[in-house]
Amino acid sequence: MATTPEPGEPATQIQSPRDSAIASPGWASSTCSVHSEDLEYWRLGNRLYGRGFPFPADDRAREDHDARHAVFKKALKDRSFCAPVRLEGADVLELYTRTGILAMEIADKNPACSVIGVDESQMPEAWVPPNLQFEVCNLEDNDDWTWRQRRFRFIIIRQHGVFVKDLPGLIRRCSEILEDGGWIEFQLLTLGHYSQSEQQAPMGKKSKIQDIHGYLSHGLAALGRQLDIHDKLPRILEENSFHNLEHRGFPVPLGRWPKDEELKDLGHLWLDVLYWELEALMLLPLSVGLKWDYHLIQLFLADLRNELTQCEGLKMLTEVHVVYAQKVCEGRTT
Ligand SMILES: C[S@@+](CC[C@H](N)C(=O)[O-])C[C@H]1O[C@@H](n2cnc3c(N)ncnc32)[C@H](O)[C@@H]1O
Repeated sequence: MATTPEPGEPATQIQSPRDSAIASPGWASSTCSVHSEDLEYWRLGNRLYGRGFPFPADDRAREDHDARHAVFKKALKDRSFCAPVRLEGADVLELYTRTGILAMEIADKNPACSVIGVDESQMPEAWVPPNLQFEVCNLEDNDDWTWRQRRFRFIIIRQHGVFVKDLPGLIRRCSEILEDGGWIEFQLLTLGHYSQSEQQAPMGKKSKIQDIHGYLSHGLAALGRQLDIHDKLPRILEENSFHNLEHRGFPVPLGRWPKDEELKDLGHLWLDVLYWELEALMLLPLSVGLKWDYHLIQLFLADLRNELTQCEGLKMLTEVHVVYAQKVCEGRTT
């Protein structure tokens, strides 16, 4: 029977008919165009991917994103952001907005501000608040930053680490378009689960759930992507003359084990979200990044799901990291 390789170890001895269809340079050899003339999509298993993206771009993925939004909201105690910025009369920018759910919420709650949500892929055509507009743009392309003449008081970026090739460049460009005293905030939910019981007495056996982070980061690294960037942000922000920097961690339990009712609810929600998005998270990094056989991945995912259904006793948790900082100004701050 096939055994699961250690994180970072390619399973090159296992071959699958699918390998030839997925392991080509540029990730995709099987493509089909849907929805947009600008974006090409391709299939891996039963999931649909945008070219160059390590996670699916299908309707299920949109639902996963919106479910994650609920996790962020609960973890941040119903706040959309943590930076101490006043939004009345402000221009606000959300980069890598995806379904636009966060931009919509900020615009809806703050009718006296004006919000722009930006993403490379198409925005939803649903009703949006009148003080919100979406723009389609490639944020890696300097010339696409068409709003450079404007000055924003607040820029918010959530769950984008894997997609950013040049983080210092992104922060420098954000600094250029922030008004003096304006704020930038990053929010990231990490997948590095740890056990609270382990903190007191080491567990005899490590759970596979604790391997998710290692496998995923190795798979993404093989694709030239980085999973976690929250530890890099403070230094880069300081190098770009940001100050009043805060790096805060908000606990996200896995399961209903906490006594506190709010944490119990959050843990229940996160367990459900992780259970359903496991395949979306792991499929391409393991198959294309670590060259695992498709069927081995499905076995591994089945094992993981099984552990997730029985993980209450392990008292696991992870964190939402929030990093925010203020652009230095000569005079008065906002
Ligand atoms: C993980 S999703 C962001 C989720 C969203 N911020 C949220 O928290 O709900 C990453 C998004 O980055 C977008 N993206 C990736 N590369 C991009 C680029 N170069 N320019 C603009 N958007 C990009 C993708 O289209 C995708 O929608």
